[in-house]
Amino acid sequence: MNVVTALKTRKSVRSYTEKPLNEEVIHTILDAARHAPSGVNMQPWEVAVVTGETKRRLDEALGGAFREGVAASMAYDYYPKIWEEPFKSRRKACGLQMYGALGISRDDKGRQAEQWAANFRAFDAPVVLFLFIDPSLGTGAFIDCGIFLQSVMLAATEQGVATCPQAALAEYADIVKTLLGIETGKVLVAGLAMGYEDQDAPVNGYRTPREAVEDFTSFYG
Ligand SMILES: Cc1cc2nc3c(=O)[nH]c(=O)nc-3n(C[C@H](O)[C@H](O)[C@H](O)COP(=O)(O)O)c2cc1C
Repeated sequence: MNVVTALKTRKSVRSYTEKPLNEEVIHTILDAARHAPSGVNMQPWEVAVVTGETKRRLDEALGGAFREGVAASMAYDYYPKIWEEPFKSRRKACGLQMYGALGISRDDKGRQAEQWAANFRAFDAPVVLFLFIDPSLGTGAFIDCGIFLQSVMLAATEQGVATCPQAALAEYADIVKTLLGIETGKVLVAGLAMGYEDQDAPVNGYRTPREAVEDFTSFYG
């Protein structure tokens, strides 16, 4: 698969089959992604691959925290506190598209919350990957992690493996770190659901739009 095809076919998948993802495939994906560039070749990413019984316990702990309204312990603000245009409209359209695919109406807050809760089980994917960085690093390391994350997703696409990057999985960072026995100071950047797409699931049946190049680019000179 060439890079452009991988870029264009990758999408966020929010329902997975039960087919397990074998460790060799995960290794192949990470082995490709480790070639991602980073400032002064810092390679700040630290990856935890969670499956099986550990994932089951994590799903339970995160789901419980969400249901009980436990205060988030996210290390950074991923989203703005105040949504300005055009981001506000894009965010709304993003939600409407997903709830529309699921047949969830705008007013059905109950089913919307249920769908959001699925984040905390990584949408029942067989594998979830967590990305950490060391607290000594600057904000630039987040750029490196973003590049790494996309590299993982593109390499996964080539392997026929579906993914969904998840900021939601960094919300209860303390719970994740405690359960995995990771140093409390480490910064949890994001989670990534991984597995095989359930191609019959309505939630996977739409593609999100993008702006045209001319709409976000100015050429000088
Ligand atoms: C860093 C990052 C965090 C995200 N967090 C979540 C999340 O917590 N839950 C979710 O359902 N989707 C999440 N997404 C997926 C976006 O909603 C999705 O990428 C966007 O709507 C574009 O759709 P596409 O990935 O299908 O192209 C995240 C994406 C990125 C890049």
